[in-house]
Amino acid sequence: MTESKKKVLITGGAGFIGSHVVRQFVTGYPNYEITNLDALTYAGNLENIRDVENAENYHFVKGDIKDAGFLLELFEKEKYDAVIHLAAESHVDRSITNPNEFIETNVMGTANLMNAFLAAHQDSFEGKLFYHVSTDEVYGSLGKEGLFTETTPYDPQSPYAASKASSDHLVRAYGNTYGMPFVISNCSNNYGSHQFPEKLIPLFIHNIKNKKELPVYGDGQYTRDWLYVVDHARAIDEIFHKAKLGQTYNIGGFNEWTNLDLIHVLCKIMDRKLDQEPGSSAQLIRFVKDRAGHDRRYAIDAGKLNRDLGWAPSVTFEEGLEKTVDWYLSNPDWLEHVTSGAYQDYYEKMYG
Ligand code: NAD
Ligand code: DAU
Repeated sequence: MTESKKKVLITGGAGFIGSHVVRQFVTGYPNYEITNLDALTYAGNLENIRDVENAENYHFVKGDIKDAGFLLELFEKEKYDAVIHLAAESHVDRSITNPNEFIETNVMGTANLMNAFLAAHQDSFEGKLFYHVSTDEVYGSLGKEGLFTETTPYDPQSPYAASKASSDHLVRAYGNTYGMPFVISNCSNNYGSHQFPEKLIPLFIHNIKNKKELPVYGDGQYTRDWLYVVDHARAIDEIFHKAKLGQTYNIGGFNEWTNLDLIHVLCKIMDRKLDQEPGSSAQLIRFVKDRAGHDRRYAIDAGKLNRDLGWAPSVTFEEGLEKTVDWYLSNPDWLEHVTSGAYQDYYEKMYG
């Protein structure tokens, strides 16, 4: 997409990655009109984007992508030129206990959004774009060797992964059937500020701070490929502006860690930051029952994104992790609000 004036709808912009994408676009493109559509579920927090909420090119709309009628009306009125779709249920453990919520939001919600986008642009798709943000989990699990590429066959293993895979298939099917202009990106594990403390890194920072046990699933030898969230937002910016329609890009940090190795690095940083005896945090590690159907290894080949669009991570893992720990330690109110649920009052205060 070119950088001329346009109306961009970002869904899920009050969540972890979405809030960084909102910040990237609101500050980077003052001539765009950015609307953040979010249902403010347990994972959505307007405090995540407090720094940009008064920007002239930013609006917030509280709404649910499961509500097809609401989306049709909204798009009919606003005729957004582009959508960057991040709204989703995102936590694998929750998908194991409540798969239907994931199917309804991630599959039906995505279909509702595309139906509204198509209805608003039935005359012409000229200059329009539907950007679907997805995950590497759609590819399933790797053995010891190899990387996920854009042509790796889909083999999702959790209800979350299957719901995201279904939504990816639907996006491509809408492109093929209705000519909907789209791009998709599939990213590896993100870490950074504003991540809900149910995911590994913020949960463990929170637990170490509160001297609570660190629950390591199974043998701790599961491998993930970690990317600093700001670098994901930068990649989305590049793909949004430069990718050819119909393309898929994998995004990752070339940064594989077993969970146990990562946890030990995190423990060392926390001991230093909290001025504790070396080894204190690691004493909190406990091996617990494994996650059902736990994928053994994810690792992304982000070579296409680097070759085609020149993107590369800007931050090393050591720098990113240090910044992340610093952010959580210097924002105890944020952690307090999300763990107590008090942040949900913020919407009432801000928007009545
Ligand atoms: P998150 O759970 O932190 O945020 C999700 C946001 O979506 C929240 O603000 C929530 O309120 C909103 N939302 C949920 N259901 C909604 C609904 N029905 N209607 C409107 N809004 C709704 O998630 P995240 O980790 O920021 O992930 C964002 C996207 O990126 C997801 O699509 C996820 O699949 C994808 N992704 C995440 C990662 C990761 O490591 N976190 C990696 C790759 C891809
Ligand atoms: O790969 C991208 C995906 O990364 C995203 O699509 C998901 O939205 C995001 O949640 C993340 O999924 P994971 O399941 O990999 O992330 P999580 O932080 O839940 O777990 C990371 C690893 O740590 C995984 O192997 C499970 C393990 N783990 C996690 C938790 C919460 C533990 O050992 N203990 C824990 O308490």
